[in-house]
Amino acid sequence: DQPCGYPHAECPIGGVLSTRESVKITQPRYCSNTGQTRFFDVVASPLFDANGKITRIVELSRDVTEERQMREDLLRRNQQLAILNTVSNTVNQSLDIEELLRKALEEILRLTSIDAGAVFLREDINKDLKLMAHQGLSEEAATLAAQVGLLDGSCGGVLETGQITIVPDVSRFRGHRARSLKRERLITLVHIPLVAKGSTLGSMCVGTKMQCQFNLEEQQLFQALASQIAVAIENAQLYAEVQQKEQLRGELFVKAINAQEEERKRIARELHDETSQSLTALLYFIEETLEMKTLKDAKGKLLNMLQLTKHVLDNVHKIIFDLRPSMLDHLGLVPALRWFAESRLEPKGVRVVVEEVTPPKRLPSEVETAIFRIVQEAITNITRHAAARNVHITFNMTDEQVIVCVEDDGIGFNIESLDYLPDSTRGLGLLSMQERLELLGGELAINTIPGQGTQLLVRLGL
Ligand SMILES: Nc1ncnc2c1ncn2[C@@H]1O[C@H](COP(=O)(O)OP(=O)(O)O)[C@@H](O)[C@H]1O
Ligand SMILES: [Mg+2]
Repeated sequence: DQPCGYPHAECPIGGVLSTRESVKITQPRYCSNTGQTRFFDVVASPLFDANGKITRIVELSRDVTEERQMREDLLRRNQQLAILNTVSNTVNQSLDIEELLRKALEEILRLTSIDAGAVFLREDINKDLKLMAHQGLSEEAATLAAQVGLLDGSCGGVLETGQITIVPDVSRFRGHRARSLKRERLITLVHIPLVAKGSTLGSMCVGTKMQCQFNLEEQQLFQALASQIAVAIENAQLYAEVQQKEQLRGELFVKAINAQEEERKRIARELHDETSQSLTALLYFIEETLEMKTLKDAKGKLLNMLQLTKHVLDNVHKIIFDLRPSMLDHLGLVPALRWFAESRLEPKGVRVVVEEVTPPKRLPSEVETAIFRIVQEAITNITRHAAARNVHITFNMTDEQVIVCVEDDGIGFNIESLDYLPDSTRGLGLLSMQERLELLGGELAINTIPGQGTQLLVRLGL
């Protein structure tokens, strides 16, 4: 009955006798001196006599413990790779952050022993974590998690440490969050940081209904999953940023075209109302003068004509300056801007100081134009929004770079609250400054606090 003598061990002999063929089985054998169970492949083969009767059975045993272990390891690794692959494919199929997170959690719950999961993201370096997606949680638990986190507000502090944190048994904790997790029957919780390119974007929290001791290998799988998800989040964020920029660029373009059209209308109106009217008047004066008999009579008319001509000339100069200040081409950036600043600010009672820290210097024409337009917009903003009393403009121009600073002591503003909605009537002045600078590889910094004035810093490498 027990040919091999191992309790509970399956015996191949019966199989050989009934099938008359070789039988192969795997037997566990307890090794009393090491306390280990080892596995043996046993092959039993029949030997026949001339009449075809089984006379002997030969049994060969081979220790396959290591082989078995390796096979199991390989299988597990394969499963983990398959999980990673599936999640990675899932997250790469969407550029919508909430959707991709929801799908990733769905897959993780489906493919692993995890029973519930949530992803929290930090939208801004100073802001709290925000619940972006969850799976396997009741609405009640999800609402609480959205308000105060799953077990604590900082996801086990993973954002600071950048390390995976395991809470083996949440029943040790008190408080409404722990009670909520208990209602969900969750026992073990794992917080995994979502890290992309060295920065922590948020945290993925997963929980199991059985108490789990996640080994190093399983923790590594979590981290690999988290990094796939983090990269996908980063991609989606970049995509959203590009889209927003694209939209802004489009709006800017439309506004630029409209502004150009407006400018043309204004010039046409000015030419019509002022220049053409004055020239018509001049025409009448000339005709009248031609009919006069004496030079004495004509002299009065000529004086009128002189006045009128001066007036027309002034007007034409103004229009030309608005189109493109010839001063900018003839005298350079600083004199043109000094003239512009004084002529716009002083009549409004604003004191303006324009200062050159470095010796005067001409810059490439496109750079002078860009800086002129940027400072022109800054000055227009000061006259329109700042209610300033003093304005200070400094130019620092070396061979390597140009730094221009426009500072006012007006009411300042809150940059954060500026939103450029498509239907906003607000202009895109600050934005077009930035665009102009970016085109030339420069940068714009705006330092302002409500009530404490505004400082605009333009930096451009040459
Ligand atoms: N120097 C300044 N002082 C106070 N507020 C400013 C100043 N410059 C800009 N702002 C604020 O920033 C907003 C955006 O400016 P801008 O993009 O030029 O658009 P717009 O001038 O058409 O409103 C302004 O509406 C104003 O509220
Ligand atoms: Mg403006």
